[in-house]
Amino acid sequence: LGSAFGLLIAYLLGSMPTGYLAGKLLRGIDIREHGSKSTGATNVLRTLGKWPALFVLLVDVLKGATAIIFARWYYPWLFTWPSFPLPTGLDFQNLVSWSVCLSGLAVLLGHGRSIWLKFTGGKSAATGLGVLLAISLPVGLGAAVVWSVVLAIFRIVSLSSILAALTAIVLVFSFEHSMPYRLLVVAGGLYVIVRHRANIQRLLAGAEPRLGKTAPE
Ligand code: G3P
Repeated sequence: LGSAFGLLIAYLLGSMPTGYLAGKLLRGIDIREHGSKSTGATNVLRTLGKWPALFVLLVDVLKGATAIIFARWYYPWLFTWPSFPLPTGLDFQNLVSWSVCLSGLAVLLGHGRSIWLKFTGGKSAATGLGVLLAISLPVGLGAAVVWSVVLAIFRIVSLSSILAALTAIVLVFSFEHSMPYRLLVVAGGLYVIVRHRANIQRLLAGAEPRLGKTAPE
């Protein structure tokens, strides 16, 4: 039950509908009816402008990082409870790492499928960056650099996010990381890419809007 509670906290943290609230509070609109219909910072940028987008980006990155920081504190605390039924023969550190891995996936799922938005939401790129930065600074920074460079060249955010997710998957195998963390980055990265499938179709059709251009309807 204690383990499930940890995952629930991560899921609820991800579920916090930052972009949706920005639309409602600033302009009284449902952002899911505008632009790409996503609640992410990119759609906030095209629908509400620069400052709301920056705020949403920051909070969504923080959601991801906070879920990992919380899990890293919570699970060691939980598993050292005298009454916790820790299975004998199971490595404590391994158990913590797997739990942190599941929390990372839970926060991404929460952002993409928010309980407050009838299981709709964003594409989990910003939240994914927060998770990455918290579990591995070099992998997170590497993904952020690729994201920025691709954006500067092509000015298409979805392309940047997809290539950054792929970069993270490659990088996590280039550094010393445990199996659970590698699995988190692979599964999380694939989740982010799958959430971009409408963007991928538009990219292939040459119809994905560049920054500052009209939104896809
Ligand atoms: O992080 C989301 C971004 O990669 C694409 O967003 O609104 O253009 O689908 P959007």
